[in-house]
Amino acid sequence: TSLFDPKDFPQLKNDTFLRAARGEETQHVPVWCMRQAGRYLPEFRESRAGKDFFETCRSPEACCELTLQPLRRFSFDAAIIFSDILVVPQAMGMDVQMVPGKGPTFPDPLKDPEDLQRLRVKVDVNTELGYVFRAITLTRHKLEGKVPLIGFTGAPWTLMSYMIEGGGSNTHSKAKRWLYQHPEASHMLLRMLTDVIVEYLLGQVAAGAQALQVFESHAGILGPAEFKEFSLLYLRDIARRVKDKLKEDGQDVPMIVFAKDAHYGVEDLSQSHYEVVGLDWTIDPRSARERTGGKVSLQGNMDPCALYAPKERISDIVHKMLEGFGTRGYIANLGHGLYPDMDPEHVGAFVQAVHKHSKQMIEQ
Ligand code: CP3
Repeated sequence: TSLFDPKDFPQLKNDTFLRAARGEETQHVPVWCMRQAGRYLPEFRESRAGKDFFETCRSPEACCELTLQPLRRFSFDAAIIFSDILVVPQAMGMDVQMVPGKGPTFPDPLKDPEDLQRLRVKVDVNTELGYVFRAITLTRHKLEGKVPLIGFTGAPWTLMSYMIEGGGSNTHSKAKRWLYQHPEASHMLLRMLTDVIVEYLLGQVAAGAQALQVFESHAGILGPAEFKEFSLLYLRDIARRVKDKLKEDGQDVPMIVFAKDAHYGVEDLSQSHYEVVGLDWTIDPRSARERTGGKVSLQGNMDPCALYAPKERISDIVHKMLEGFGTRGYIANLGHGLYPDMDPEHVGAFVQAVHKHSKQMIEQ
């Protein structure tokens, strides 16, 4: 079989992450970090040097190498495919560039509802995003069954906000203006995104993804009512449609929803067909458990900046976090991604502390 054959994958040796996602017993709490492939690693900076970001995303070999880098250093219990959420707006026909020092930039963002006509009506994900699927298949082989591979997507509202803002923003007022001035066009755009995302996630599973995370990174700029109407509805639709289709094919892939800063949405998110709710650091672990009533597994949520603390302090913070969440139905992670100036040694200390403390707690 060729390396690109999405069948005959090596047997999985460490299923701790998948078991925790399903709320099953484990011998230790699994851990991974959002943005574990990133600029905090010198080998990442070297691989990426002088290359365009989205060109890198289009190379299955480069994505595979960048995905594997953090696993050579740390005993993470999951890998996440190197890619970006903004490949979906690209697949819909929008130009997106990664400008060094500035971040993602859309030279020609959506301004008015008429601009929706610029988007592709029917997106063939195999044509437009096949490079991500090939990266997943290749990486799944090269992982040699060490840990499961997570696929991901941006959620509709987060992608909509990028497509209208044209890049990062403090207020997101251009995108929020649409919600209040053009609610119907907003829903039309969110539906278009949802349709592409469902096909995209199913394609990732067909290519070899063993879990899926949906990033609603811009949830926190919405109020509770707007969150329900413009975010939650679509998050639920995505999980339901992906799960229904997978069930038809006799497959079961755990799904994680990470809606950053959506404290008010935690109860609703725990009843949205996702096995796992990811949390940012502004939520107290115990109250998150109470509010989700043991219905889902939880993931998170150490403040990434706690990695600036001395290693002993990191270990204490991790211990408290584990006591708050408990060791069952829990996946340790940060409350958001790693930053480029973080010390890889402290990331290692975080991973070790999760494994050490959780083993002791489970054995007791
Ligand atoms: O390791 C992983 O987590 C997997 C890879 C991954 C990347 N982006 C690689 C990346 C994932 C899961 C993402 C998701 C993503 N991309 C999100 C959702 C998660 C979140 O942070 O809330 C968002 C909002 C984006 C959009 C995006 N892409 C931003 C804001 C940036 C940073 C720009 C900057 O200059 O700081 C990116 C670029 C990006 N995506 C980098 C990486 C490793 C860094 C740039 C580089 O490598 O040149």
